[in-house]
Amino acid sequence: MGQPQDTRYLIAPGGTLRGRVRVPGDKSISHRSIMLAAIAEGETRIAGFLEGADALATLAAFRRLGVPIEGPDRGQVRVQGVGMRGLRAPDGPLDMGNSGTSMRLLAGLLAGQPFPVTLVGDRSLSRRPMRRVTDPLGSMGARIGTTAGGTAPLELEPVARLSGIDYRMPVASAQVKSSLLLAGLYAEGETCVTEPAPTRDHTERMLTAFGYSVRRQASRVCLTGGGRLTGCRLQIPADISSAAFFLVGASIAPGSDLLLEGVGVNPTRVGVINLLRGMGGDIELIDRRTAGGEPIADIRVRHARLHGIRIPVDQVPLAIDELPVLFVAAACAEGETTLTGAEELRVKESDRIQVMADGLAHLGVRTETRPDGIRITGGELGATGEGSVEGAGGGAIDAHGDHRIAMAFAIAGLRAKGPIEIRDCANVETSFPGFAELAAGVGLGIREMRR
Ligand code: S3P
Repeated sequence: MGQPQDTRYLIAPGGTLRGRVRVPGDKSISHRSIMLAAIAEGETRIAGFLEGADALATLAAFRRLGVPIEGPDRGQVRVQGVGMRGLRAPDGPLDMGNSGTSMRLLAGLLAGQPFPVTLVGDRSLSRRPMRRVTDPLGSMGARIGTTAGGTAPLELEPVARLSGIDYRMPVASAQVKSSLLLAGLYAEGETCVTEPAPTRDHTERMLTAFGYSVRRQASRVCLTGGGRLTGCRLQIPADISSAAFFLVGASIAPGSDLLLEGVGVNPTRVGVINLLRGMGGDIELIDRRTAGGEPIADIRVRHARLHGIRIPVDQVPLAIDELPVLFVAAACAEGETTLTGAEELRVKESDRIQVMADGLAHLGVRTETRPDGIRITGGELGATGEGSVEGAGGGAIDAHGDHRIAMAFAIAGLRAKGPIEIRDCANVETSFPGFAELAAGVGLGIREMRR
């Protein structure tokens, strides 16, 4: 992965997004495909795998745990599953890079293994809260050491056994839910997780695809440990979180008309579509179908006059990764947009409330932050006349190494009045390799500069 500051985007103001585009495979589903295939019996063939640094960190970790994996080769991966008890001790710490999903889900999956493992991450990941998984895993009998502040490195000690728990999550987190369900595969008895609001359910769907029984009743999901998974074929949909940049870009750029192909439209992920529609967006789902137990569709999006909204709290977990780019939509919409109940945004790859507010201020957009959200006064970028460059509405933005912040501000360029320079963009590689090229191909005036 690149060093901080070594990749910058230069964005020419204005433009229109037109044509067809297929964004890379879903990050959440790519991680899970490797994890479940690794501990399944028999071969799993995966198509559409995301070849981004985060999912590759998961793949590399399982190779080091003794799982034979071929690929990725243009999204194709072939995994020879070693079965529930077939993982081997790695020869050193497993590096999860920037990936919270890798670290939290692996903490669960590895908590019940008969060997010690250490999980490490980069600077950003080493600041993120891990007690949300290590505490409930501890209640199951796991022994996981963290720093005094509850952060990585995570040191997993082997334990004689794990026991199932019935856990009510204090935060709506798919990573916590998934971590506990994966530990539950190795636990005695039943493991149940109750979520305070619906979160992405890819783990549950994929366990079912591998033949493992998962029971859901309203907000509670349960499984019984000691079963087995059977290798299968998986087709990974295009990532709606990556498509989101184009959904917003085409919505805000006059004259735009874009078709996004084969995008995952799992109901637990479509907050960005719901919210853009609520703002007046023109979004059409075409040819709905399913792939690998996940609903997909082509999405047509055209420019529309957006208006500000009060973001319903129940949409927050369904749009959690798309909120930064939705802030850009809000900045270009008429009237105010308010977000509450989104304190989780502060503990993502960066503090996404603060970093977005700072960047928007550089673009001359008025915002007011609060611990759990933000109020954005929409209109034209540069409306406050206080942007960081002459002819406000352009300027230099610091992405703080956060992939989604970098891409959100690249999209803002479509409505900026001056050029924008975005610094510290190397981590776009974690979720969206080839973003600049793909975006340029449909009309974004983006140049990527590497040092
Ligand atoms: C993810 C869940 C979300 C999301 C992350 C991926 C997953 O995190 O932000 O990018 O794959 O389970 P939380 O569950 O912590 O909200």
